[in-house]
Parts: sequence; structure tokens; C-alpha cells
Amino acid sequence: MNKEYKSPLPDDYSDNTIRKIGVLTSGGDAPGMNAAVRAVVRTAIFYKREVVGIYQGYKGLIEKNFKNMVSGDVSNIIQLGGTILKSARCQEFHLREGRELAYKHLKEEGIDALVVIGGDGTFTGARIFAQEFGIPIVGVPGTIDNDLFGTDYTIGFDTALNTIIEAVDKIRDTATAHERLFFIEVMGRDAGFLALNGGVASGAEAVLIPEADTDITTLENYIKSGYRKSKNSSIVLVAEGEKAGGAFGIAKQVEEHFPQYDVRVTVLGHIQRGGSPTAYDRILASRLGVASVEALLDDQQSVMVGIANDSIELTPFSRAIKYDKEMNTKLLDTIHILSS
Ligand code: F6P
Repeated sequence: MNKEYKSPLPDDYSDNTIRKIGVLTSGGDAPGMNAAVRAVVRTAIFYKREVVGIYQGYKGLIEKNFKNMVSGDVSNIIQLGGTILKSARCQEFHLREGRELAYKHLKEEGIDALVVIGGDGTFTGARIFAQEFGIPIVGVPGTIDNDLFGTDYTIGFDTALNTIIEAVDKIRDTATAHERLFFIEVMGRDAGFLALNGGVASGAEAVLIPEADTDITTLENYIKSGYRKSKNSSIVLVAEGEKAGGAFGIAKQVEEHFPQYDVRVTVLGHIQRGGSPTAYDRILASRLGVASVEALLDDQQSVMVGIANDSIELTPFSRAIKYDKEMNTKLLDTIHILSS
């Protein structure tokens, strides 16, 4: 340890009136959510607060599906994918009556504040709920999509990327054996972070993302130049939110225009959401889980905790969920240069 090291731990927050913290995971699960739950529970206990696990996200608030958590409840979960608290996409929480019921249950249980772990849908709900009922809420970014502003990476993104490259490596074997052109669709909802980064890491010949226009002729030129250089197979990663027809639509267009290619499509699907989190995701989740509880005890509300340039940052929900997270589209040039 560095000799200059001083513990950054703040005081014991004994003045703060938050006594009981609820924690939930909501929306699409992401590898590392369990590591975040563990961190939230242990940090709350460290600061002598009670902590309640809320099952199935906002649905659990409405149905009062609660459990008081002790340290042992989160033992041996840091390595697990999924979420021990379960998750859901809850339509009732979109309605005022649903949120009123949720608030009533929080009050009955004596829960003073919430940590919500999820993505943009989770934070949209949290922002409205906090505004309506004045309940302090801090968000932890847990989504494989990496589409939240205010954090370099979201929990689960790195693990999903590793799943993608493992799958693409395997598909490349069969693509090469049959001299085929594969279009592989990856998740990301409206964002192309998984496709772009997955494309660089798997050596894809091209990547099609919602943030850049797809031009069939340019795509064809990339592929043709690859074949000319004695490549006998090609991989194109397509983000599910791509606007020119998605993997199947693009594949059809290519087949129609260029029947010389033997084209196949693979949709990776939910395999990308599972699996044991990488070291990176476990560390990110642990740091953000600690930071979320400290933010609440520091009287922060309606903010997401993130890490930018290795420092904890707080970003209002309203900002975090806007789709203006900068994407490094220079990576498209990197792919072009390296595949040519
Ligand atoms: O937000 C995470 C995500 O996996 C997206 O990439 C994808 O579009 C969506 O969730 C799929 O949601 P569901 O599992 O509800 O079909």
C-alpha cells in the first residue's frame, strides 16, 4: 500500500436520518448485478443501516415482496450471473396507482430510501417515483447495453462483450469451413456499443450500428476487398437497433444484389445476458454498490452513480437516461483499417 494512503472513508453518517435502505434490480438483468447487490447490502450494514431486498424490481414494491437482508444473504454471489433479487419489466409501475401502492408499502416497511440497479427504464421509473413521493433514490447502472450517460461503462457490458467474442470466434470456424458470409446480430436495444466494441475485439470485417448509416454498396466493397485478399469468409456484426433492416433485412438485400455469397444469419440473443461476470464487471459493481449507499447517506437523490476516468461521478437521472452518451465512432475506422 502506498505510504501516503489515507482511508477515504467518510464519517459514520450518524446524523443522516436514513435508517433503512431498500435495494432492487429491474429491467434486463446484467452479469454483475449480484456483485452490486452484495456491495449495497454490505455497505449499508457497514454504516449500521438496515437493508431490505425487494424482489422482482418495481413489481416487488407493488406486491410487497420484501426480505430483510443480512450479510450472509449475499455470501457467495459475487461470481453469479443473473440476479438473486430477480428482475422484471413492470407495467403497473407506469401507472400512478401502481406507484401509490409501491410508496404505501415502502412506508409500511419503514424503508427511507432506495438503491435501484438497472438501465434507462429503471431510472425513468425512479425519477418519476422520487419526484411524486420525495423518496431519496440512487441508481446503479446495470445493463449490458452501456447506453447510460455519466459512466464510462455499465455493469454487464464487459461480460456481454466477452460472450460475444467467444461466440463470434466459434462462428468464424464454421464460416471459414464453408466459405460463408455471416451476419451476426447482437443486443444493445437502440445503441451500438456492443456491436462496435464486439466488432473490434472479434476482428469483424464490418459493423452496422444505429449511430451510423448503413450503405449496402460500401458494405459490399468492404466484403469484396476482403475476399480479394484471399479471405474466404466474412463476419459482419449488426446491432439489433440498426435501422436498415437488422441482420435479416441486410442479409436479404446482400443476397439479392450479390448472389455469389453464401449468406447466413445468427442472432446471439439472450446468451449475451448470462454468465459469470468478468473481473472488470465485479470490480465496477462493487465500487458502484458502495458509492450508491454512500451517496444516499450523503443526502444525494435522483442521481446515478457512475465511474468516469476512474472516479466516482454522480449524474442526475434526467441526464443519465438521455441518449447522448458519446460513442467512439472512430472505432469504425479501426475496423475498416484492420479488415482491409
Ligand atoms: O436492455 C438490455 C437488453 O438485453 C437489450 O439489449 C435488449 O434489447 C432487451 O434488453 C431485451 O429485453 P427482454 O429480455 O425483455 O426481451
